Amino acid sequence: MTDDTSPPDDIEVSDTGLALDGPPQEMYKFLRDHMPVMAVEHEMMTGTSVALHEDVMTVLQNPNIFSSLGAAEIGQVRPLIPLEIDPPDHSKFRKLLDPLFAPRRVAELEASTRSLVNDLIDAVIEDGACNFHSSIAEPLPSQVFLTMFGLPVERTAEFIELKDGIIRPPVEGIEAATEHRNITGQKIYAAIQEAIDEKKANPTGDFISQFLDAEVDGHRLTEDDVLDIGYLFFLAGLDTVTASLDCMLAYLAQNPADQRRLVEAPDDIPAAMEELLRWETPVAGVIRVATQDTELSGCPIRAGDKVSVNLGSANTDERFWDEADSVDFDREINKHIAFGGGIHRCLGSHLARMELRVGLQEWHKRVPSYELKPGTTPAYTMGLRSVDNLELIWET
Ligand code: HEM
Repeated sequence: MTDDTSPPDDIEVSDTGLALDGPPQEMYKFLRDHMPVMAVEHEMMTGTSVALHEDVMTVLQNPNIFSSLGAAEIGQVRPLIPLEIDPPDHSKFRKLLDPLFAPRRVAELEASTRSLVNDLIDAVIEDGACNFHSSIAEPLPSQVFLTMFGLPVERTAEFIELKDGIIRPPVEGIEAATEHRNITGQKIYAAIQEAIDEKKANPTGDFISQFLDAEVDGHRLTEDDVLDIGYLFFLAGLDTVTASLDCMLAYLAQNPADQRRLVEAPDDIPAAMEELLRWETPVAGVIRVATQDTELSGCPIRAGDKVSVNLGSANTDERFWDEADSVDFDREINKHIAFGGGIHRCLGSHLARMELRVGLQEWHKRVPSYELKPGTTPAYTMGLRSVDNLELIWET
């Protein structure tokens, strides 16, 4: 399955195939060149990891062969909707959910998001320093999402701890991580159930209230359906934009010419954001389960095997990208797969893009020059790449 080439001393290759606590791009290249299909074992899965763009797309675009049902064990007790629903039912749920995140709906949230970002910046700007992760990147998407979804914003800190308990359990070892996820998962279901009970009595315009009234295929959604949608949204809505903002600001703090460009040419921010999504790929990988015996790059995959799909590596694969190793804000075509691909492509991408764009615009307007606090090095979490220790400084 792999060749026996050892990585050079200056490249650290994780035995998970997932991103490391530092910049992962060199490791991805090593994997593509020497271990494009490799056996992996880590707390989320035991199976096979694929690193080439071509194999990644094969997996994402063939949900009948590579199912997402049972792929990620993240404390859930029933399949997550729509992530663990295979065709043909998957499209029925997307038909219900897609309109909630349509560009028109997201545009309605832009002004309040802009004002929220400015409030968060107001709280730190005079200090000339902040932990960007906890001061900006975490509260921004959490407050937008909780309001939209119908969960109490005053419990933000508790909810952030719960999603971290699933995505980054604070324990060592596979068994302890699974147990922690299962306990935390019950608390997430309980929080959503509480909101369901409240919305049943007093419906408002939020998502939970709308779901309780919604139908799929002529059938009203059950309360379990609403919980299974809610559980997935809770994790997706509270973590991914935070991780993306962390990765982007960590990059820009270390690349002053690119930072200056966003300040001097704010119209370039949308293109820069897409390029940084490609380069950083904050959701570094997704998981599938093979439904039949098959192969990837000539390597056998057996029915039941889990396949870890390395999105970060596909997004930097020189077999697909021109100048794969350059961060180029002028890239004309940017078909990155930071939001996944195929039928499960991210449902929240319009919302995520709006939050990231507004965050980058307002930050660079108000803090036109910043750098990493001397003596600090950004440490990335694995899998979903947030940077909890992102300490920035600027002149006041
Ligand atoms: C920059 C931020 C984001 C990134 C990088 C991201 C990335 C992804 C990726 C890679 C997938 C594919 C998962 C798979 O194939 O297994 C996905 C799916 C999904 N995302 Fe996002 N996401 C982001 C923001 C959001 C937000 C804000 C929400 C909702 C509030 C959201 C909701 C979802 C849902 C519901 C799915 C499952 C779609 C389906 O199964 O059909 N995402 N996302």
